[in-house]
Amino acid sequence: MENETIFVREVKREDIPTVVEINRRALPENYSIDYFYYHLEEFPDLFLVGIVKRDDLEYIAGYSMSRIEFGFSNFGLSLVKKGHLISIAVLDQFRRKGIASSLIKTTIERLTKKKVNEFYLEVRVTNYPAISLYKKFNFVVTNKIPSYYSDGEDAYVMTVKLR
Ligand code: ACO
Repeated sequence: MENETIFVREVKREDIPTVVEINRRALPENYSIDYFYYHLEEFPDLFLVGIVKRDDLEYIAGYSMSRIEFGFSNFGLSLVKKGHLISIAVLDQFRRKGIASSLIKTTIERLTKKKVNEFYLEVRVTNYPAISLYKKFNFVVTNKIPSYYSDGEDAYVMTVKLR
């Protein structure tokens, strides 16, 4: 589309209702609004939105919400600093434009600066678009969790080493 630009920025407090709406439209895993506000307060630089700008109008097209945890490595027994991608989604009409890729790329750059050792996520074993996206960033399956989702579907844990 002409005059269309895409960029990523940190979420603002007033964006949260739109982010909740995108989450509800795109995913069956829906969280309370307070869960989003919690991540905004605690990890503001890891909670990002993808913006599509057409002429002078800006649309929030997607989001990614990540946090930092401490625990055992997904690759072994050492204790490490881990990034956790809690949720990512892009509205249907804005998909395949590289928005999710930009969100993940920016998050990885920020995690790397914070000396985070690895970045992981859970994904439905049948979510082929998302699995394909994560493979592009060198995530590999490090575990499979039976019946992880409320409808009984299994999850893959996918992880990428950052340092
Ligand atoms: N089919 C196959 N591969 C796909 C598809 C698809 N429909 N969509 C994306 N990909 C893969 C491709 O490898 C693509 O690269 P390419 O376009 O060069 O072929 C790559 O992902 C990057 O695509 P982007 O354009 O960056 O991804 P997009 O902005 O469209 O968002 C997303 C991808 C987030 C998976 C989107 O389809 C979506 O919102 N799906 C519903 C919500 C969802 O499943 N979220 C992930 C749940 S797991 C979690 O949150 C941790």
